[in-house]
Amino acid sequence: MLSMTCRNLDFGTRVLDLVAVGSYSNASIVRHSVKYLGKTFTSKVYGARRMVCSRLNIRRTRVFSTNTSEALFDGVGEGTTPVLDLNKEAKSPISLANLFEVVADDLQTLNQNLQSIVGAENPVLMSAAEQIFGAGGKRMRPALVFLVSRATAELAGLKDLTTKHRRLAEIIEMIHTASLIHDDVLDESDMRRGKETVHQLYGTRVAVLAGDFMFAQSSWYLANLENLEVIKLISQVIKDFASGEIKQASSLFDCDVELEEYLLKSYYKTASLIAASTKGAAIFSGADGSITEQMYEFGKNLGLSFQVVDDILDFTQSAEQLGKPAGSDLAKGNLTAPVIFALEKEPKLREIIESEFCETGSLDEAIELVKQCGGIERAQELAKEKADLAIKNLQCLPQSNFQLALEDMVKFNLERID
Ligand code: IPE
Ligand code: IPE
Ligand code: MG
Ligand code: MG
Repeated sequence: MLSMTCRNLDFGTRVLDLVAVGSYSNASIVRHSVKYLGKTFTSKVYGARRMVCSRLNIRRTRVFSTNTSEALFDGVGEGTTPVLDLNKEAKSPISLANLFEVVADDLQTLNQNLQSIVGAENPVLMSAAEQIFGAGGKRMRPALVFLVSRATAELAGLKDLTTKHRRLAEIIEMIHTASLIHDDVLDESDMRRGKETVHQLYGTRVAVLAGDFMFAQSSWYLANLENLEVIKLISQVIKDFASGEIKQASSLFDCDVELEEYLLKSYYKTASLIAASTKGAAIFSGADGSITEQMYEFGKNLGLSFQVVDDILDFTQSAEQLGKPAGSDLAKGNLTAPVIFALEKEPKLREIIESEFCETGSLDEAIELVKQCGGIERAQELAKEKADLAIKNLQCLPQSNFQLALEDMVKFNLERID
């Protein structure tokens, strides 16, 4: 079969440079319906697709698999909204598809396993999980687990990934997904990954329970890994996520919030999970303590850079480009890096924020002030500072395609705000 409908690809144009010449087969759609509180909910699960690709724009000589990741086709759905700015990505010399291709087979296996390890017996929870897993997402965290696992396995003389590496990647994506479900409840967001959020579809009670269920299920799988160091590392992350959300909720509209507090909150909410992913991967490769520590620092710095970029994009991109609400951080009183920097320059901004945008047009005025005062540029510098540290953390790894892909991941993140 030689057909390709880009409209149907959530990661569509993200793989276009890969699939300029491509084919897929075995596409199938399974519909699941579930009755809850008198309503029928229908969701779709998409079957296996494989593409044979011709690669363009390869900047360095690397060895790649011919399988594109199933992840690239995740979130396949009618008229889905792309999660990233596709125009921007087309300009970028790096694409996620290129980055992930060295671990494409690993991601494909992950996607097959994810739904089954959720293991919810309750049809509503199952359907909620399908909603968010099926909506796609970049699968950045499991890709990091695979890349670090493979980059460090060489050091320890491992020939392939172990089942523990793979399970770790699944656990990490499950924790990430659970945190998104809860985060959307807290942020009252109605869109995630270009689709309706779980709480929007099923209500807050189901969303809270679905998130709790996934946290609990991931803990069970974590315990079964029988590695005390990793168990401690990842359980701390679940605690950190809650601490980060509490920190954020208790400092809304607080114009005295300092950059250090913002970074600490970002560490709790985002970087802690990424750091644990990269360190956990190195631990399962049997890497020595100095390497596992560098991998932790790498994940932490990349995670901080990633959150700063996400916070900038909230100002600069549309909901359509992001696949989630845009401009909502400031509106909800969540003062992120661009605002914190702008507040140093413009006292009027404080006044507007402290009035909680009670006057018509004041939110737009505040957004304009943030932009005019160089808030975005200074936040860009901060994201770059953290990215530079992350690149340095990678120097302990031997040269390989995996190490290069990790570097590119850091650069790709920054290019989103170029
Ligand atoms: C969203 O993370 C939450 C943040 C830490 C900003 P991602 O942007 O990785 O979300 P998905 O998984 O691709 O949807
Ligand atoms: C990161 O923060 C959320 C999580 C770590 C779950 P955001 O609140 O900025 O994430 P988005 O923008 O909703 O994806
Ligand atoms: Mg949010
Ligand atoms: Mg955000």
